[in-house]
Amino acid sequence: MAVQQRVFLNNPKLFVAPGGLNFEKHLRLHAQEKLRYFDEIARLTEDQRNMRTVTPGYIEGMTRRWMALYHGEIAAAQYMGTAAASMPFHDYFEFIACCICQQIDELSHAEMDRDMLLRAGFQLEDLPALWEECEAKVVFDHLLSLEDGFEIAFKGGFVLESANAVVGFHAMARFAEQHGDYLSAANHRTRLTDEPRHMALGVAVAKAMLADDPANIHILQQWQDEFAPLIYNFIHASRPIERIPGSNFSADAQWASIVEHHTRNALKLGLRPTLTL
Ligand SMILES: [Fe+2]
Ligand SMILES: [Fe+2]
Repeated sequence: MAVQQRVFLNNPKLFVAPGGLNFEKHLRLHAQEKLRYFDEIARLTEDQRNMRTVTPGYIEGMTRRWMALYHGEIAAAQYMGTAAASMPFHDYFEFIACCICQQIDELSHAEMDRDMLLRAGFQLEDLPALWEECEAKVVFDHLLSLEDGFEIAFKGGFVLESANAVVGFHAMARFAEQHGDYLSAANHRTRLTDEPRHMALGVAVAKAMLADDPANIHILQQWQDEFAPLIYNFIHASRPIERIPGSNFSADAQWASIVEHHTRNALKLGLRPTLTL
């Protein structure tokens, strides 16, 4: 197996935790938002909480996208653990703390999705086979194959979370509600209070690398170019949503907003945008 490239800063102090994130801040943010979320879920009716109010055909149409969501959250918890463990502790304390805070977020997202899937009637033992046939699996397999902490945080945060999570979850929450799925709508909205922090971690890594050595732009461009095209697999996994009765969802329209968001963010960092329509 080829030895993977490792990236360390000449001056590790150039990495600055986005929004001054540390464990105390993370705990306070979670205490506010997650307790509000659990109260919201508790106020749903039994039928709403158990997905008995959804449009017929909704669960079938959402299945592939849900597989990407649940297994994506599990993968994110795993690859952020790898990112944290890959860096020397003292020099990269702040970066490691951000990775661990994100790992907690992703595990809590996976727990919500697991609960939702069980309520929707899935059996946990059937999920691995459904995941095997989900097109989005390659995105997470790529991230799970990496060993460099900065590469993981940049690809996962700046490319994936930015393109998919931050753009996609607002639309998914509205769509869920329109189809009587109040549980996923609540899940997406609480998830969305965490995901921008994950995107910001990717940006913070890129900024630190560029401040350390402007020539690092070539490494960032290479990372973006090899990873970003995989994002299109989410569009394949989302196609069946178009066939849910009464659906106004368009996978192509979602791709257009992902490309627009990606382009804007790439240009801000001085990168050539990779994704096109
Ligand atoms: Fe997440
Ligand atoms: Fe995330």
